[in-house]
Amino acid sequence: MTGTGERIVIAGAGHAAGQVVATLRQQKFAGQIVLVGDEPWLPYQRPPLSKKFLAGEIPSERLYFKPGSFYEDPLIEVRLQTRITAIDRQAKSLKVDGDEDIGYDKLVLALGSRPRALNVEGADLEGVHYLRSISDVEGISAALDGSRHLVIVGAGYIGLEVAAVTRALGHDVTVVEMADRVMSRVVSPEISDFYQIEHANQGVKLRLGTTVAALSGRKRVEGVETGDGEMIPADLVVVGIGIVANTELAVDAGLEVDDGIIVDDHCQTSDTDIYAVGDCTRHPNRIYGRSLRLESVHNAVEQAKTAASNLCGKESQYTQVPWFWSDQYDLKLQIAGLSEGYDDVVIRGNPAEKSFACLYLREKRLIAVDAVNAPRDFVQSKALIAEGTIIASDRLANADQSLKDLAAASPG
Ligand code: APR
Repeated sequence: MTGTGERIVIAGAGHAAGQVVATLRQQKFAGQIVLVGDEPWLPYQRPPLSKKFLAGEIPSERLYFKPGSFYEDPLIEVRLQTRITAIDRQAKSLKVDGDEDIGYDKLVLALGSRPRALNVEGADLEGVHYLRSISDVEGISAALDGSRHLVIVGAGYIGLEVAAVTRALGHDVTVVEMADRVMSRVVSPEISDFYQIEHANQGVKLRLGTTVAALSGRKRVEGVETGDGEMIPADLVVVGIGIVANTELAVDAGLEVDDGIIVDDHCQTSDTDIYAVGDCTRHPNRIYGRSLRLESVHNAVEQAKTAASNLCGKESQYTQVPWFWSDQYDLKLQIAGLSEGYDDVVIRGNPAEKSFACLYLREKRLIAVDAVNAPRDFVQSKALIAEGTIIASDRLANADQSLKDLAAASPG
């Protein structure tokens, strides 16, 4: 048992926060744990929100990270709908709206991120939605009932997942994306091309290389005007133009922040009594030799485990190959690593059969993979990326041989 008499406060009650609590309990932390969050729900998983939950295939109960009974523990206190307004590092306490301060011995910031706001005329009209929380999806689902023309702003994960679900429900869907290809932040042009064709085949209208100039309507949105002058009819707009890390509390408290709360590989901030995990952080990544702010569940969960282990006195370092996934129609996209800076790309499998992988190499080392319905290549690539294996790229395209075998047979 560790931490008897100690009080760990977790600021934020999302997925990362839930994992901090779970790991502290697994590691027999015997002190008090206080979870403080402004949402009305216990920690839940966000990835299904834009997939099965929006499609109406699973109820909200299935989203929860742990059942309510897990938190019914005399050593765990949960304070939902509680907004933290400041961190007082001198007094070691959190200031919260309308209540007395919450003191801590150690603090974990799991503050997450929020959707980037669309700043154009008409963006505050009724019928304009964002997608980040359970209530956001409930709002979109209710609005979909009476709508036909849906315009989605942003062709990233959120935009394209919403397009896939709503097309399957029979809506008229147009996606407006400012870059000249979809998912440009995360995938290569080869994968963007494939997804553009798939969405077009499903009847989604893509408007690439243009922004939203304004939204029009009296009270409710009625149309979207694009930067190149097209007026698209809309009775519902969903905006998915990226996220902004919630770092303000850390900035105000004087912690080191640079587009993300700076943490070391123990997930410790510039204050040794304060840890930070998940979307709100920037960490040093040894595999890529630079600092990263990652937006992924995997990062949230693994940083949470690292922070909790260190809080229990068990030395633990965060060294992970980042990975991400997206479900659109019958396509599972699994991404491992970061492809930025690749000097060679190899395609394994056949895009026409909807099962293939794009492998990205730099100086003969595999640095990333985008796998579409190719889980084995995804899993094996992840291991090869972590090991920094040198592979002869001319043999990688041979999909009859596993990547593991090809790597083992490589001269490097
Ligand atoms: N008009 C049109 N497109 C825009 C605009 C704009 N004004 N601003 C940004 N975009 C585009 C970007 O070019 C990008 O392709 O919106 C897309 C946003 O994609 P992501 O960065 O992937 O963000 P989003 O889809 O909102 O997802 C946010 O949620 O799925 C989770 O953690 C995941 O990071 C992801 C987060």
